Amino acid sequence: MSYLVLARKWRPQKFDDMTGQEHVVRTVANAIKMDRVAHAYLFCGPRGVGKTTAARLLAKALNCEKGPTAQPCGECRACTEIAAGTSVDVAEIDGASNNGVENVREIRENAKYLPQRDQHKIYIIDEVHMLSGAAFNALLKTLEEPPGHVKFIFATTEAHKLPDTILSRCQRHNFRRIPAARMLQRLQEICKAEGAGISDRSLSLVVRQSEGGMRDALSLLDQVLASCGANPSDEEVADALGAIDRTLVQDFADALVHKDAKRVLERVEEVFNRGLDLKRLAEELAFQLRHLFVTKTLGKAPDELAESEQKALMALAQDAEAAQLTRLFDVVHGCIWDVSRAAQPRLALEMALLKAIQLSPGGSIPELLARVDKLAAGMGEGSAKSNAGAPGGRSSPSNFRA
Ligand SMILES: Nc1ncnc2c1ncn2[C@@H]1O[C@H](COP(=O)(O)OP(=O)(O)OP(=O)(O)O)[C@@H](O)[C@H]1O
Ligand SMILES: [Mg+2]
Ligand SMILES: [Zn+2]
Repeated sequence: MSYLVLARKWRPQKFDDMTGQEHVVRTVANAIKMDRVAHAYLFCGPRGVGKTTAARLLAKALNCEKGPTAQPCGECRACTEIAAGTSVDVAEIDGASNNGVENVREIRENAKYLPQRDQHKIYIIDEVHMLSGAAFNALLKTLEEPPGHVKFIFATTEAHKLPDTILSRCQRHNFRRIPAARMLQRLQEICKAEGAGISDRSLSLVVRQSEGGMRDALSLLDQVLASCGANPSDEEVADALGAIDRTLVQDFADALVHKDAKRVLERVEEVFNRGLDLKRLAEELAFQLRHLFVTKTLGKAPDELAESEQKALMALAQDAEAAQLTRLFDVVHGCIWDVSRAAQPRLALEMALLKAIQLSPGGSIPELLARVDKLAAGMGEGSAKSNAGAPGGRSSPSNFRA
């Protein structure tokens, strides 16, 4: 059998398997249970978050031989054919290539006839925003009062391009980017089932690069498995993704917090020699400092990170002061743009990091307070002397206020 990419192999076949779109799944499942299924649905949201998947699941739910049911059997002819995209009563139409008025007329003509075998005739139109103005107009009438056996499910990444007339005739559901922690969990399950040993740390890297899109995450995972085999090291995964190894990023943050300029310079050289993108490094570092600051503030590391990373962050946050972290973040975040534009990115980055170390107040607050106290005590002696000859002189702040 030919190799099936993970995204297709792991397309959810039950509503329960959909990750992170509970708000949609719940409403749709309830409508089915209560027999209140709308005649037109619009699924919108970013790419690869489950719109087409949900459309197929809804089609199965409506046409399953045991249905309509929120738990389609997955085994009957209707269910298996819908999953394979070969059902006679479920048409999956690509709106981008069938965007003319004649295409919609054909749908309109066809919709009049009863379904050939199953209970509903279902039209899934993907990328529906690509239809022409005339095509939308041709669709309006059918959309207003479709025959009882007809259901429309539209999917789009760009709902704002749809005319209001269409929007107002559909029940709209907004799909969200998948929360990082949920995605990590799903990737762990998939890796386990696939017999792939990829560390949580590396999986979080995949999660981060996917920006909330499950298809992107699975494609990245494919890429990793294809280029490094089933048991890659963290470094191999980072290389395969063109990313910077998390261990290295953590070590950078550690060196910055501990004001270890020598280690910082050594690490920059290492990244530079490996030919990695320095702007990317600056961005990763800014993110890491953000995570560190969040950890310091909330007393808890962000959930989306691997457990080992969370532990490391908690430990490092103990050693750092909030003021120091904001300073470090400001400088590092501020240098991203410079590094991307500089004639010598390496110099720009090195100088920024050294500056960050110089400018960030070190030591703990109690330590600093003790130092301030000591200074103040010293100044007190000095000013007492200089003020001796000028009683009521203007040098003390309290006199200004008076
Ligand atoms: N919410 C999700 N839960 C689990 N897997 C998902 C989810 N969303 C997407 N996937 C995975 O990504 C693949 C692609 O999803 P799908 O085709 O439903 O995305 P889409 O939202 O229609 O994207 P596009 O806008 O690019 O058409 C699925 O086959 C599945 O493996
Ligand atoms: Mg789709
Ligand atoms: Zn079925």
